[in-house]
Amino acid sequence: MGKTTAAITAVGAYVPDHILTNKMLESMVETNDEWITTRTGIKERRILKEEGKGTSFMAIKAAEDLINKSNLDPKEIDMVLVATATPDLQVAATAAYVASEIGAENAFAYDLQAACSSFLYGMSTASSYIESGRYKKILLIGADKMSSIIDYTDRATCIIFGDGAGAVLFEPNQESLGLQDEYLRSDGIGRNFLKIDAGGSILPANEETVKNKQHYVFQDGKTVFKFAVSNMADVSAKIMERNNLTEQDVQWLVPHQANKRIIDATANRMGVSSEKVMMNIQRYGNTTSATLPLLLADYEKQLKKGDNLVFAAFGGGFTWGSIYLKWAYNS
Ligand code: UT7
Repeated sequence: MGKTTAAITAVGAYVPDHILTNKMLESMVETNDEWITTRTGIKERRILKEEGKGTSFMAIKAAEDLINKSNLDPKEIDMVLVATATPDLQVAATAAYVASEIGAENAFAYDLQAACSSFLYGMSTASSYIESGRYKKILLIGADKMSSIIDYTDRATCIIFGDGAGAVLFEPNQESLGLQDEYLRSDGIGRNFLKIDAGGSILPANEETVKNKQHYVFQDGKTVFKFAVSNMADVSAKIMERNNLTEQDVQWLVPHQANKRIIDATANRMGVSSEKVMMNIQRYGNTTSATLPLLLADYEKQLKKGDNLVFAAFGGGFTWGSIYLKWAYNS
């Protein structure tokens, strides 16, 4: 028998109904549709408005979508991983609650946090467990309620982010499909450029931190942009090179949706033409951990068994990387 690989065998997704358009943002901060569109590619994003509902609400919906579409018995799930930068609660793992709510009563569950690279890193974690032979069905969910940590008076951040969730199932594969290679990096120097200052162990919440708006995302956009452009393009080119993939061999680039200009630069560097680039940033903005699975859900019908997919992401930390995966089914 050949080597066991880890393949994605099902996909699910959820985005909230409420749409926040560029036009609506024009009445909230000093910005305009033209600036946002040309600088980022974003036209609208989804916002989870209902009070008392957190990231788990969307993660559960995405998982249920996957379960319904694939006729999966949740009792067979061995492990639930929730990739997120916005857990329901500071301490209790969101994944544990999600697993219980979807009926994954035989699973263990935990969260994984690496900012916008959370889902990409999660793909590596899930695949490694499968390849080891230890587990057979791993549900990986990427979910973020970015609206809970965004200051809607800060035009540098509020135009970018949105809420959403996506889920994939990883299972063993004997046909050499699924994850082929990964190149994952991090550099702690980057944490000063994209962060939330307060509420962690360095600066616990107090009246001052609330008054100073230190519980919201701060981003030095220009610096993050520079690092994102060069690093995302570098790792994607590298993974092609070391797997002897030409641009003809790559059917799809699956890039983190942070900025259309970063995506275009990555595609250019790889020599991949625009019709091979998955893109939904115009509809959802940057949903952090949810961008990659939301792309898979949107493009699932176009994917064919054996297609070569190159995933790429860059995020706070800094964290970034690229994964080469062979698609395992026709839908
Ligand atoms: O997902 C995690 C990783 N994150 C990223 O990859 C995000 C990376 N960064 C970016 O995508 C971009 O840097 C932004 C979209 C955040 C900003 O675009 P930019 O082209 O880097 O703009 P900038 O910050 O250099 O600002 C250019 C100008 C400034 O005005 P002056 O100084 O040239 O007069 C800003 O004040 O645009 C102004 N500006 C805005 N104008 C209208 C900044 N934000 C806005 C806005 N609307 N929302």
